[in-house]
Amino acid sequence: MRILLGVSGGIAAYKAVLLLRLLREQGHAVRVIPTRAALEFVGAPTFEALSGEPVSTEVFDDVPGVQHVALGKGADLVIVAPATADFMARAVLGLADDLLTTTLLAARCPVVFAPAMHTEMWDHPATRANVATLRERGVHVIEPAAGRLTGTDTGPGRLPEPEDIAREALSLVGPVGTPPQPQDLAGRHVVVSAGGTRELIDPVRFIGNRSSGRQGVALAQAAAARGAHVTLVAANLAQDVTDQVRTGERPCAVVQVESTAELRDAVRAAGADADVVVMAAAVADFRPAATPDAKIKKVPGQGPAPIELVENPDILAELARVRLRSGQVVVGFAAETGDASGTVLEHGRAKARRKGADLIAVNAVGSGRGFGTDSNEVTVLDGAGDVVGQAAGSKREVADALWDAVVKLLP
Ligand code: C5P
Repeated sequence: MRILLGVSGGIAAYKAVLLLRLLREQGHAVRVIPTRAALEFVGAPTFEALSGEPVSTEVFDDVPGVQHVALGKGADLVIVAPATADFMARAVLGLADDLLTTTLLAARCPVVFAPAMHTEMWDHPATRANVATLRERGVHVIEPAAGRLTGTDTGPGRLPEPEDIAREALSLVGPVGTPPQPQDLAGRHVVVSAGGTRELIDPVRFIGNRSSGRQGVALAQAAAARGAHVTLVAANLAQDVTDQVRTGERPCAVVQVESTAELRDAVRAAGADADVVVMAAAVADFRPAATPDAKIKKVPGQGPAPIELVENPDILAELARVRLRSGQVVVGFAAETGDASGTVLEHGRAKARRKGADLIAVNAVGSGRGFGTDSNEVTVLDGAGDVVGQAAGSKREVADALWDAVVKLLP
């Protein structure tokens, strides 16, 4: 892959050298384009020796070759690391006063910025607005790490480790020859609930369900790969699914919950500024009316004590009714089994009309289908119950098909 590595002028520029070496070791051709300020921190010979390519900061260095256009058009991926506050502000304005900014305007491949600055600068409204604008335009701005900064201070703003930048940036393009991942959720915040809720009967027992969280996590990871900021509300995921979240190529913010009440609070909090909420979690319809503090004892000779149940709020129907943010797209799932009163699709259709969500993904469950498996098959219905899509395959493929349908509804 042909990668342009932009380096702007911050103390973290020395880590660009490690990133360059890593990308070269992975077999990529890398051309480094530093800003003038970056060369105050790391000398051009270092970049030239490690990349094996010339290094210049100016458009005037090879005028007949029209470098910026050739470099921009020929790149498969642009990574700017570190991206300083000043550099991002210049990119937002579309300035073209050096080789890096000019090349960025000519590039049509995925562009990744890895910011590094002090926490106060990262938190400043000007930087926040610039990052939001860049994301809206499709630039993938990596969240800075939290940790030791230039002085003795610590906090968010640290350049992520070179391995993490490389992994996240390369996940945007895939192997050479494959089409780049569409960044059609760039700048969007999406909330996905996954797993299954548990309702305590007493401190040791619960009413739960068989959802592993696999489909919800696939949705979260597919959205992250398409550029979204993802909040995953995770209800009792299976261990291997939790591991999958930890090792995913793009990070998601994860909120762990156990009960339906906790899930509702977490989804409503995260959903306040979300463009999309997807309720993929299997939510318990009922919970015990009361949960004693002590374990319920088995009394010899006495039968089981009845457990009185009360109805849980229907979170999906609530979200669809109130819309936490104007224009928010709300998506639900309907895990169905066919029976004498109707087919899977008929039950799904009735649910779509009842819930009021924009989309409902209907899938047949039971007999080894749906729960805990790696594949899924869904029919996507709109709020009126009309079929707007079909998807079958791995849960990630199904997730991408569902995001295709969601993207069409986004303003
Ligand atoms: O009614 P049913 O549980 O079959 O509906 C499934 C859809 O509704 C899923 O999207 C699930 O996350 C959501 N749901 C909910 N709150 C409930 C029950 C289900 O949000 N109490």
